[in-house]
Amino acid sequence: MMMIVTIGRCIVLCAFFSVTFCDVYKVHTSPGLGRRFDGIGGLSGGGATSKLLVNYPKKYRDQILDYLFKPNFAASLQILKVEIGGDSQSTEGTEASHMHNEWDENYQRGYEWWLMTEAKKRNPDILLYGLPWAFPGWLGDGHDNPYTNVTRTAEYVTRWLVGAKKFYNLTIDYVGIWNEKPFDVSYIKMLRESLDTHQLGHVKIVAADGGWEIAKTIELDKELAAAVDFIGVHYPGTTTTSEALKTGKQLWSSEDYSTYNDNTGAGCWARILNQNFVNGFMTSTISWNLIASYYNALPYPGCGLMTADNPWSGHYDVSNPIWMTAHTTQFTSPGWKYLPHGSGVGKLTHGGSYVSLVSPDNKDLTIIIETMSHDHSLCIRPALPAYKVIPQNVSLQLSGDLAKLLQLNVWYSKLAFGNNETSVLFKRLSPVKVLNGKVTLSVGVDEVYTLTSLLRGKKGIYPDPPARQPFPDTYSEDFEAFPDFSEPFNFAQQVGSFEVIRSNDASHGQVLRQVVLKPPIHWCPFPLIMPLNLIGRPWSDVYVSTDVAIGPVNGTTGVFVAARVDQGGCQSWHAKGIFFFLFPSEKKFILTNDLARTIPLKEGEATEAVLGWNTLELALEGNRAFGRLNKQTLFNITVPSTPAHGFVAIGTDSFGIADFDNVHIKSTSRKGPYIKH
Ligand SMILES: *[C@@H]1O[C@H](CO)[C@@H](O)[C@H](O)[C@H]1NC(C)=O
Ligand SMILES: *[C@@H]1O[C@H](CO)[C@@H](O)[C@H](O)[C@H]1NC(C)=O
Ligand SMILES: *[C@@H]1O[C@H](CO)[C@@H](O)[C@H](O)[C@H]1NC(C)=O
Ligand SMILES: *[C@@H]1O[C@H](CO)[C@@H](O)[C@H](O)[C@H]1NC(C)=O
Ligand SMILES: *[C@@H]1O[C@H](CO)[C@@H](O)[C@H](O)[C@H]1NC(C)=O
Ligand SMILES: *[C@@H]1O[C@H](CO)[C@@H](O)[C@H](O)[C@H]1NC(C)=O
Repeated sequence: MMMIVTIGRCIVLCAFFSVTFCDVYKVHTSPGLGRRFDGIGGLSGGGATSKLLVNYPKKYRDQILDYLFKPNFAASLQILKVEIGGDSQSTEGTEASHMHNEWDENYQRGYEWWLMTEAKKRNPDILLYGLPWAFPGWLGDGHDNPYTNVTRTAEYVTRWLVGAKKFYNLTIDYVGIWNEKPFDVSYIKMLRESLDTHQLGHVKIVAADGGWEIAKTIELDKELAAAVDFIGVHYPGTTTTSEALKTGKQLWSSEDYSTYNDNTGAGCWARILNQNFVNGFMTSTISWNLIASYYNALPYPGCGLMTADNPWSGHYDVSNPIWMTAHTTQFTSPGWKYLPHGSGVGKLTHGGSYVSLVSPDNKDLTIIIETMSHDHSLCIRPALPAYKVIPQNVSLQLSGDLAKLLQLNVWYSKLAFGNNETSVLFKRLSPVKVLNGKVTLSVGVDEVYTLTSLLRGKKGIYPDPPARQPFPDTYSEDFEAFPDFSEPFNFAQQVGSFEVIRSNDASHGQVLRQVVLKPPIHWCPFPLIMPLNLIGRPWSDVYVSTDVAIGPVNGTTGVFVAARVDQGGCQSWHAKGIFFFLFPSEKKFILTNDLARTIPLKEGEATEAVLGWNTLELALEGNRAFGRLNKQTLFNITVPSTPAHGFVAIGTDSFGIADFDNVHIKSTSRKGPYIKH
């Protein structure tokens, strides 16, 4: 109420004393329109960021998907970008390739197909964008480089786009090159050619999901300029370059945000959604990530627009970046036009920014104002130069047809940072009158306003989901419930690719198979060579058993079961824990304190090992580790007390096939042996 009164007073005073009390900003279409708005998006992948989403109970999963994608409900995202899986770790895990090997092609893997389908169900107009982080090894001919044969790699990516249509009726709108890795000019041209020859002329190329340097190359190469539709850069800090502007291409922040989704994260997101255009002329901003649906012991916990990492309870959090997104997405569509800088787009005199957009028929107007202060809108990267924001009166002078609008509808947020303050999130306020073409607002700090001629807008709400629960302390999986080629719930593959497969052995039925045969073209700063699959929560005392068989054809050299595994992600190689390796053909076992086996604890003979199915058991209790193979004790020794807790893991010694079945986990704070004799 207070604010409305203030607005009223200011309107009157500004009408007469605008110079004294208000800063006046023109909102004009007369100089012509500015750049086309291309949409706000979220990124699933890069990698495995939606891993735990698919296994939510359907009721809660549908609610989460509505918060992300349903038009006029919450985030109402306009673009969904996904990883084109490449069988290699790409931040939170590995996403499966549609072609593990040159003789293989499959569109039933992973969860991105499912996610894109769910997004399209809610919003048929959502735009889809695919990008590889890594590639299966066969595309490199032994080199760690996807450009050794650009024809072949272009065909590989084209097949993914063809598969999307053929198996899911998904039209992919945009495709990228190689995430944050070098681009190759001949590859980009070849990709364009390959798309065109496969009736995919409508698929637009975004290049190159890295820095601005592609702009210079485009400037020098007309053919490349013709192949590239958008320049997409990552974490641009809201700025651009003169070379990029000179190309005349639409510019995108094709990956941004990556910040913990508390109020500072929400402030970061609100600020860059406006300022990526105000400072950098960027017409799309895409959040890494879409939703933090991965174990929070992995890197970058909670760095999504919202968090859903607790499927076993159904709990999820609608984090505040969702409502910052709504301020733009509910009142615009891709294809709207920004007004030019200085005529509806700019910085506010006392800190903050404003953008204005008009609908294609020029009838509707949406203005978004943000006043995020420096310390309350820090993003994870890059560094943010100092600036100041203070409360101010903002007066917008509409002209031409825009001045005929009688009033604008108002949506308001204020992010609170004080102990006792509560945030206001995406609240509909009373409309503001347009008087003599002018609207005036008294704006504070850390606020977002949307002023719009549109009547729509909704703060969608579902009842609170169930409370958060720890991962269950007793867990068994026989993989029988999963469709062929799917990834089992809760198993978070970090290195290698594991999928459910019907084994030849009827007594085992469906099993979980590690299927990557040779090192992929990796994305992490260093190659990861030992397939690793994590599950559960930070357990300390825990028992785990699994049946395991090494593939008779293209098998790996050894297998392991582990507990107290302290990390995944690109750092998987440095994972510590208690690892129990078995090398069946050598009839040997090794117990180590790390995955890379630089800290051996014990090794010895494993005469019980067979070439078919073996059963491994590992129990940790305080500083004792106890292990059995096929029910025969192999060790019962004292082990280091660090790491004190971590994931349970299964995996293999090298790339190559191994099957896992009947994984049983039991953890309890109760003292006493887990294995009864
Ligand atoms: C805003 O305008 C009102 C008068 O309408 C004035 O009292 C107030 O001081 C102004 N606020 C700022 C921050 O200039
Ligand atoms: C590159 O790949 C294509 C298609 O996969 C193949 O036909 C061609 O022979 C390869 N070129 C070379 C030089 O190996
Ligand atoms: C495929 O999607 C298009 C929209 O992109 C729709 O018009 C068409 O009906 C769909 N076809 C099938 C078979 O579902
Ligand atoms: C917070 O609010 C409560 C009651 O509304 C009050 O008792 C308390 O002193 C406040 N704390 C601070 C730090 O302002
Ligand atoms: C094993 O690898 C060979 C190529 O080295 C391939 O032809 C064969 O299909 C593979 N078999 C399996 C089961 O992976
Ligand atoms: C392991 O060894 C300890 C110490 O020798 C012994 O107390 C314990 O019973 C053994 N545990 C098992 C399960 O055999």
